Amino acid sequence: MRILTGVQPSGKLHLGNYFSAIHKILNYQEKADLLLFIANLHAITTFSSKENLKENTISAALDLLALGVNPEKTIFWVQSEIPEVTELSWYLSGSITVSQLQLAHSFKDKVAKGFTPGAGLFTYPILMAADILLFSSEKVPVGKDQKQHLEITRDIAERFNAQFGNILTIPEPDIDESTATIPGVDGAKMSKSYKNTIDLFGTEKEIKKAVMSIVSDSKEIAEPKNPDESVIFQIHKLFLNEKETSELRNRYLAGGVGYGDLKKSLLETVMDHFAPFRKKREDLQNDLGYVNSVLNSGKEKAKSIAEKKIKEVRDALGIYPFSIK
Ligand code: ADP
Ligand code: TRP
Repeated sequence: MRILTGVQPSGKLHLGNYFSAIHKILNYQEKADLLLFIANLHAITTFSSKENLKENTISAALDLLALGVNPEKTIFWVQSEIPEVTELSWYLSGSITVSQLQLAHSFKDKVAKGFTPGAGLFTYPILMAADILLFSSEKVPVGKDQKQHLEITRDIAERFNAQFGNILTIPEPDIDESTATIPGVDGAKMSKSYKNTIDLFGTEKEIKKAVMSIVSDSKEIAEPKNPDESVIFQIHKLFLNEKETSELRNRYLAGGVGYGDLKKSLLETVMDHFAPFRKKREDLQNDLGYVNSVLNSGKEKAKSIAEKKIKEVRDALGIYPFSIK
């Protein structure tokens, strides 16, 4: 089974990203062929600056390696290193209509928010289809927000195959409809855009500030507290096994402990959980040569898959050069 996914280098990772998406991807590397890339070409569609793009690209590589991407098991590269993907994206653009692209929610949402879209934002789903189809991915783990992009990918592949022969593998989306929405410090969905995140690799001071600002009601220390209504508890339990969760639940229900102390326990848990990853990230940061060598060897492996597929596609379309008899 070949599983592929892309991560946009769009800034700092938070607990919402970690417990839904990243955890799941990392589990796959133990069981299947995992292909994972940093989608820097997609990030161009919301470009802010050269410095930002460079910093976010390296930061995404450090984050993912520190959190457990194993380059011995996973092919890990940066999207722009495989130019065949932009070539394929051009070929695929004939297999989708403008009106279909106009229906894409992610495009419509950005426009509705007042963003003036470039053509790249409009054709974003075609580039994403190229990422997936170039590597003949069978399964694509993504968040719910990417569901429609996967449907577009399947449509493109089916139309292309009907016209040019059975060349592209039709991918299956892998989406947890039930992935609980992890709350942010204000109780709304944790999201960069709401500025309510607890970041994985923030400084201890930043994480402390975020945890201490989690909303709570005004119950006195002595009063029993309802864990199911507490954002502190909702976040804390993500780190705990069943027994630990039930112990924490009882601490809330028993009363005699204030929200300040409950937040301090959560802070300790967060810091302890990420301490080894944080250490690994610092080590990697001091050894960028190693990080580059990992990405370079990932690129070589990805390239050999990409070159074969693009050749098949060029042949099917009659792209020059071809042998003239
Ligand atoms: P953000 O909302 O902070 O911009 P992204 O859209 O970059 O986050 O999310 C990347 C991945 O993390 C997606 O697959 C998404 O489903 C998941 N994710 C982000 N925030 C949450 C959350 N609060 N709860 C559950 N999953 C989340
Ligand atoms: N669009 C995805 C996101 O924003 C990132 C992405 C780009 C991707 N290409 C992909 C995901 C291919 C899966 C497969 O999260």
